[in-house]
Amino acid sequence: MRRPAGASSGRAALPAGAGTGAALRVPRRAAATGRAAQAGRRRRGGLDGRRATGGASRGARGDRRGRRGGRTMSGSGAPAVGVDFGTTGSLVAWGRPVAGARGIEPTAIPVPQDGRDAAADVLPTLLFFPATRKVLIGEAAREQLGLRPDRVVRRLKQLLGRFPRVGVAGRAYDTTKLAAAVLQRLRRAAETRLGGRIREAVLTVPASFDVHRRRALLDAAAAAGFAVGPRTLLDEPVAALAAFLHGRAATPRAAGEPDFSAERLVLVLDVGGGTSDACVARVRPDGATLAVELRALSRFTPVGGDDFDALVARRLAEGFCARAGLDPAVLPRGDRLLFEHRMRLTAERVKRDVSRNADDGSEPAAEVRQLFLHGEHHLVERIDRARYAEWVAPLLADPRGRAAGDAPGVLDAPWDALGKAGVAPADVDLVLLAGGMALVPAVRDAVARLFGRAPRLVPDPLRAVVAGAVLQHAALLGGRADLRPAGAIAAESIGVRTAGGGFRRLIGAGTPLPARVVERGAFAVPPGRGCYVRIPVVEGEDPRPDRHRLLATLALRFPGRAAEGDRLSLEAALDENKLLELRGFLDRDPAVFVAARLRLDEPAGGTPTTPGEDR
Ligand SMILES: Nc1ncnc2c1ncn2[C@@H]1O[C@H](COP(=O)(O)OP(=O)(O)OP(=O)(O)O)[C@@H](O)[C@H]1O
Ligand SMILES: [Mg+2]
Repeated sequence: MRRPAGASSGRAALPAGAGTGAALRVPRRAAATGRAAQAGRRRRGGLDGRRATGGASRGARGDRRGRRGGRTMSGSGAPAVGVDFGTTGSLVAWGRPVAGARGIEPTAIPVPQDGRDAAADVLPTLLFFPATRKVLIGEAAREQLGLRPDRVVRRLKQLLGRFPRVGVAGRAYDTTKLAAAVLQRLRRAAETRLGGRIREAVLTVPASFDVHRRRALLDAAAAAGFAVGPRTLLDEPVAALAAFLHGRAATPRAAGEPDFSAERLVLVLDVGGGTSDACVARVRPDGATLAVELRALSRFTPVGGDDFDALVARRLAEGFCARAGLDPAVLPRGDRLLFEHRMRLTAERVKRDVSRNADDGSEPAAEVRQLFLHGEHHLVERIDRARYAEWVAPLLADPRGRAAGDAPGVLDAPWDALGKAGVAPADVDLVLLAGGMALVPAVRDAVARLFGRAPRLVPDPLRAVVAGAVLQHAALLGGRADLRPAGAIAAESIGVRTAGGGFRRLIGAGTPLPARVVERGAFAVPPGRGCYVRIPVVEGEDPRPDRHRLLATLALRFPGRAAEGDRLSLEAALDENKLLELRGFLDRDPAVFVAARLRLDEPAGGTPTTPGEDR
């Protein structure tokens, strides 16, 4: 059996003809040496529900800064480090120096896994809370998914910045601290590998993550010992593009490879476990480099592999329950959760099996065999690619035929990015696919139908994002010249809702960042003393303002006595990490600032509990 490009373990095969681009090099021995793995285990911090790991520099021993022989990784001598905190898997990588024009090669760093002797280059973003022992992160937690799903926190990335806490077996855990524990594991793996203190890194994030999610990730990064700078965050599809372009300016073009000798319009779609994320960019030659100019980013599209698995699990369960005469609703809660989770795990295996390329050219199919799943009843099914594609079709619906209010699908992301860039599918010269779901033929086929031609897989689609983070960090450190990274842009228009239900745009989608905007006289101040004005802050492009997403409420406390006709101005600043700051001041006297607080509106539904359903 030939393993598909970027399969989850070992060295990933490149798609035919993919001679350049940053295929992340997975070390020949993915396992850390026994000593390194042990050191990683010794340094690991605990997490007991109230006590978070982290602290600015805990765990770092000395500051050797990777300057030792063979360890100079960028122009400044500091290592270029990238982190991809994923919904299903998290990675850390560094820029290994190589001879020639490429300069560095993004290389995965093995991460110690609880309960395993060997480290692996992907740390499953899963935390298992045993009744008596310390939290287990990674593979050991994955093993518990089918046994104790109520004690496993999954989809942490989707909880972060949206839910302050998650409930596990009767205790509430701070989601930022949990994310910090995962990030700290990655940082320490980098320290073990690179032999020095690691504080600087670029962290990737879905392009459409809002201010709260970004802030929470940065808080988690700081708690994990990372230094947070003005360009710490990088949009995931932009990272994947950087990985694809790496080395292309410097290397002669191989047959079948895209030609960047003139300007090209590129769309990148990253479909991971939890999100679909797209960018449209212009790539043009600029001397010995390729310059990337971002045109548009997609809106928040929370659709990924988990949704495919949930849908297929439902189909499998419905069929089985009908045949077995089982109503899962009558099962005790624990049994029902276990049943649902096993179905989900089965669905994930089905997805991988139908995505595999058979050596003999035969059509791959998944054989499901779960004997005595319920009493005397077995679940035995054969699911081929066509049947799988039919089952997941609702998640791959063509956005051109969809009504507002329909559940989101993967293709909403590229469609939204195209709309914002003002281009049609036919205008795009190159469609690139990244993320684990790029390996699923049904996803590739749906993208091909939207664009009228087959998309191209980035080399090593599961690791392209972290590779791009390394390249961005190297560029920020001044160490690379064959690619000029894109400047950040706003993904969505951000503004305030006005009294009549209208929308006042402060920062438009596509605005180059950092941006600062002053909107004069935006609001009338109600007469009186010490009044309080509450303004909804929203984002979105929908012509109907009531369909914009509520980001937060801006609470403005007016300090003194307002005169009849006094008006407030608003100042909005969006930095390159896309953190938003808003403040108000009195129009007639700009020196009088009005205290402003951006309050996160708690999502409805309270604190989620495991097994994690965050929607
Ligand atoms: N070989 C494979 N065949 C099919 N699907 C796969 C394969 N490998 C991974 N996947 C799927 O890809 C998804 C994970 O992709 P990826 O690692 O890019 O996501 P992530 O980065 O963790 O999530 P996100 O980017 O949404 O935060 C999972 O749904 C997984 O089941
Ligand atoms: Mg991802």
